[in-house]
Amino acid sequence: MSELTELYEEIAVCQRCELAKGRTQTVPGDGSEKAEIMFIGEAPGFHEDRQGRPFVGAAGQFLDELLASIGLKREDVYIANVIKCRPPGNRAPLPDEIEACRPYLDQQIELIQPKLIVTLGRFSMARYFPNASITRIHGQPKRIGNRIYYPMFHPAAALHQPKWRSAVEEDMLNIPHILKEAEQLGETRPLEQAEQLSLF
Ligand code: URA
Repeated sequence: MSELTELYEEIAVCQRCELAKGRTQTVPGDGSEKAEIMFIGEAPGFHEDRQGRPFVGAAGQFLDELLASIGLKREDVYIANVIKCRPPGNRAPLPDEIEACRPYLDQQIELIQPKLIVTLGRFSMARYFPNASITRIHGQPKRIGNRIYYPMFHPAAALHQPKWRSAVEEDMLNIPHILKEAEQLGETRPLEQAEQLSLF
């Protein structure tokens, strides 16, 4: 059994917060264990809770379209959420729920070692860009160590806001270029500090 599968089994029986009571099942994450790109959303919704997979509702369909716009399928990337259980009525995750779930996301990142982390929406953005405003920093990649972090609007929000929709579509189109940059990090550029990439 892979370490990621072991982690999924641990998540499946998690009781670390109150959300365990209301879930149908946990939604740990989905995609390739060897993915270079990891997308991090917010929380499972109704359909995700039923199916146990992230981004399978309307926002997920849009995410699939966005991925297709750069020639990718969801099997080519890894998709996770900040929290692994559906909040009641799809409310926003609470700080203590995010904190309780943090070790799982940390372990996923540790196991997958993506070169590029794309945050979808403000909750995953806050992990890497604390106190930032998404309307200001979306589409601006930031390098920390040998990884690049790239904040984007959440596809669900973009579905309902035409101006965010075009922003999310445009930001997505820059991903192949950013990934190339990310692939070149490592031995060639060992600088271990945050650095804003000036790609655009
Ligand atoms: N929105 C998210 O942030 N995650 C999902 O899995 C589905 C919708």
